[in-house]
Amino acid sequence: MVKIAPSLLSANFADLKKDIHSIEIAGADWIHYDVMDGHFVPNISFGYSILKDISQVTSMYLDVHLMISDPCKYVDEFIRSKASLITFHVEAIEDETKIRELISHIHKANIQVGLSIKPATPVSAIEKYLEDIDVVLVMSVEPGFGGQSFQEQAIEKIQKLSSLKNQYHFLIEVDGGINQETGDICKKAGADVLVAGSYIFNADNRKKVIDSLR
Ligand code: DX5
Ligand code: ZN
Repeated sequence: MVKIAPSLLSANFADLKKDIHSIEIAGADWIHYDVMDGHFVPNISFGYSILKDISQVTSMYLDVHLMISDPCKYVDEFIRSKASLITFHVEAIEDETKIRELISHIHKANIQVGLSIKPATPVSAIEKYLEDIDVVLVMSVEPGFGGQSFQEQAIEKIQKLSSLKNQYHFLIEVDGGINQETGDICKKAGADVLVAGSYIFNADNRKKVIDSLR
């Protein structure tokens, strides 16, 4: 069954503990934690110290999405802050060797690794890393903000990744503009994990919305 990962970006930051428990009770699988540095994307969200505090109030799987220009510099802080999965953007690091080093550095800490691609980046940009990673995060909006509309070109990428999946073990995660309709299209294309921020946190009945995505 598809996993549901509510994005805390759309939670009430003044009431995070309550919002985390609400999605936990509602049956969410992962917590999607969007880190933005105001440089890789034109927005600032939260950093590793809030993640550490969150890890102390929940046992949920912590899915960290780094939208930052220098993931190598901060990765150890996110490791120490109890991330379960650390996903960084392939566009953030030019050098293949550095990408490979970062993947193995995170794995050595016994943490899962994801690679993310922005809407304009093709699957071919990450193909050579597929055998070494646990998750591919396909962005279906331009990273930076919640509440944007789903961009259709993500579907072809999910299909392409799905066709490559048999040879490897990675999960396909989709992020941005997910609601019941777009979630359904992504599932049919082969998505394993759906991230949803505004669709879940703006709903009065979060369980109903999470169930509707499955
Ligand atoms: C966007 C973030 C997403 C965002 C999704 O840059 O990576 O995780 O919170 O929000 P919705 O589901 O509202 O598009
Ligand atoms: Zn995200």
